[in-house]
Amino acid sequence: MTIPFIDLQAQRLRLGGKIEAAVQDAVVGGAWVMGPQVRQFEADLAAFGEAKYALGCANGTDALALPLMAWGVGRGDAVFVPSFTFAATAEIVPWFDAEPVFVDIDARTYNMDPGHLEAAIEATIKEGRLTPKVVIAVDLFGQPADYAAIKTICDKHGLKLISDSAQGFGCTIGGEHPLKWADITTTSFFPAKPLGCYGDGGAVLTNDEDLAQLIDSIRVHGKAIASDLKGRTFDHDPKYLNMRVGLNSRLDTIQAAILIEKLRVFGQEIEWRNRIAGRYNALLAPHVSAVPHVPEGNISNWAQYTIEHENRDGLAAHLKEQGVPTAVYYPIPLHLQPAYDMYPRGPHSSGVGGLPVTEAKSAVVISLPMHADLDEATQDRVIAAVASFKG
Ligand SMILES: Cc1ncc(COP(=O)(O)O)c(C=O)c1O
Repeated sequence: MTIPFIDLQAQRLRLGGKIEAAVQDAVVGGAWVMGPQVRQFEADLAAFGEAKYALGCANGTDALALPLMAWGVGRGDAVFVPSFTFAATAEIVPWFDAEPVFVDIDARTYNMDPGHLEAAIEATIKEGRLTPKVVIAVDLFGQPADYAAIKTICDKHGLKLISDSAQGFGCTIGGEHPLKWADITTTSFFPAKPLGCYGDGGAVLTNDEDLAQLIDSIRVHGKAIASDLKGRTFDHDPKYLNMRVGLNSRLDTIQAAILIEKLRVFGQEIEWRNRIAGRYNALLAPHVSAVPHVPEGNISNWAQYTIEHENRDGLAAHLKEQGVPTAVYYPIPLHLQPAYDMYPRGPHSSGVGGLPVTEAKSAVVISLPMHADLDEATQDRVIAAVASFKG
């Protein structure tokens, strides 16, 4: 029997009908767009993430686009992103005619390498074609990026910092959320994410009131916000006074209702995920090239449990035969993807060999089943299957 890679039904059953009841309430309540559940969830999320403001949006991709729009990022601007990430991190940059500049990763954490970021910024400035504007650091597989170092570099060059915590929401460094360093944290509630809903959803968190207001406007077609109405008379719904070009990017009420319930247990689930990861680390270390490394003081939410194996594809085939599903995040780094092969057009990181650590890791990483409800017996099956691979 094949075991699940992520068992979301186990979580639903554990929550004992609470999700179904919340959905029913939202349906009966009838405020299906921007209903009270959205407001409550935003307040709960801000409290959990220790942010002044949290705003729901349609998905984690839009969550990244919203601050770029708010900051007016556009043609001639450079946005520094890792290449070892999901496409969304880079995808939103060309939406606004700006250019992604790909940055290499640290070999142990898989997160943005601050040294390489600095080099990429310097090279971009030297080339003179693009103006460095924003850095998007990703909390890959659930573990926080090196925010202290990245923030120092951003400050030195006057760059904004986005924490793409689509995978890592809830991760901390010395007890602090990435927002301690970032201008804004973005996240995704895609079902497979550690805090996932039952469809698409996303959010941004920030302590910057002006930014929060602007994003509130942009997510609803550029509607007028309090500051727009100062000194102006408009006797109708402010959403019919369009002050800027926006989009439609709201979190559904039903999804917010589900997320309210799931957020209540999220802290506990992060603890369980850490227990499960610790057990994997201890028991798998002798059998693989590398188990995940989480620096002292960091807490990962273990969105993925990712090991390295020199014969990664052989291991995947062997595990499949044993009923153990695996996934490869990510087999082709973004700077080598057809959609992005024109970026950067500058002197660094382009083509094969441009980002050596990223390229080496994409050939050996493989993710194993990981979720908060993974019991020891099932985990033992995974471990035994890995241990029995002789390739
Ligand atoms: C690192 C990262 N950023 C952004 C996203 C985009 O989130 P969504 O799928 O909700 O648009 C994802 C989701 O898969 C992700 O893993």
